[in-house]
Amino acid sequence: MQLRHYLQFRDFSAAEYEQIFARATWIKERFKRYEPYLPLHDRTLAMIFEKNSTRTRVSFEAGMLQMGGSVINLTSTDSQISRGEPIEDMARVITRMVDIVMIRTFEQEIIDRFASHSRVPVINGLTNEYHPCQILADIFTFIEQRGPIRGKTVAWIGDSNNVCNTWLQAAEVLDFNVHVSTPPGYEVEPERAGLYGTDHYEEFRDPMDAVRDADLVTTDVWTSMGFEAENEQRKRAFEDWCVDAEMMRVAKNDVLFMHCLPAHRGEEVTAEVIDGAQSVVWDEAENRLHAQKALMEFLLLGKVDA
Ligand code: CP
Ligand code: NVA
Repeated sequence: MQLRHYLQFRDFSAAEYEQIFARATWIKERFKRYEPYLPLHDRTLAMIFEKNSTRTRVSFEAGMLQMGGSVINLTSTDSQISRGEPIEDMARVITRMVDIVMIRTFEQEIIDRFASHSRVPVINGLTNEYHPCQILADIFTFIEQRGPIRGKTVAWIGDSNNVCNTWLQAAEVLDFNVHVSTPPGYEVEPERAGLYGTDHYEEFRDPMDAVRDADLVTTDVWTSMGFEAENEQRKRAFEDWCVDAEMMRVAKNDVLFMHCLPAHRGEEVTAEVIDGAQSVVWDEAENRLHAQKALMEFLLLGKVDA
């Protein structure tokens, strides 16, 4: 089987996403019926965290265990990373011992270097630039609730960060549109976002214009992990980029609200919206589990028929 990695959203084609979403549905339904599915009983996942995590850690660990496999968790402080072992050497060693690796780190370049020295599939569990597993789960959630995402409009309000960049890549792969509104100075950087063009997104100065007639409104923290030194400056710049009930009212009647979490109520979103009827943030978080089980199955076993 050809070695594949999942380092950015565009690493898979639309047809491959269709397969993974179908498998995620099948795996989720079976799991809900308490029917064991243990195809990875002889496989081991190593997770490397250079940044904090709740959802990514729990969903990957629970997912691998529920599919019969084993998990090893490493962080910067309890491994040789913080003592300067080259990432290439870590990749060579770890990937002789396990079957699949998930990494959460800083620059994308670090995970790219790890992957190019890896013998096994490598999954991006968040970098400064991208968070593909999050958007995999988000789009799976959208499809579950509203059907195909092709041709729909997603409004992104706030920072043009790793999650935003991944939505923009997903729009190119799955053919939908993103309306982006960021404060001045925080606009999309197409090259950093890894985009092929500018056809699938439009930037709006006023967030109210970005959300008008949107099928999905989504946002994220004003300050991402690794950028804490900019926190005070960002709090001032992002003040008007808070998703509130007024914004949700100009979107489509059946609009959904998503947030990758963790959220700061009163900053990027009001409590009324995130805890309100249009919000699907808990389904979205749960779907990290099911979507990533399908992802690991795809990377380790290839195309599995139901
Ligand atoms: N959304 C997400 O990746 O959450 P964690 O940082 O808790 O893993
Ligand atoms: N943009 C956020 C996402 C956290 C899941 C960060 O990188 O901190």
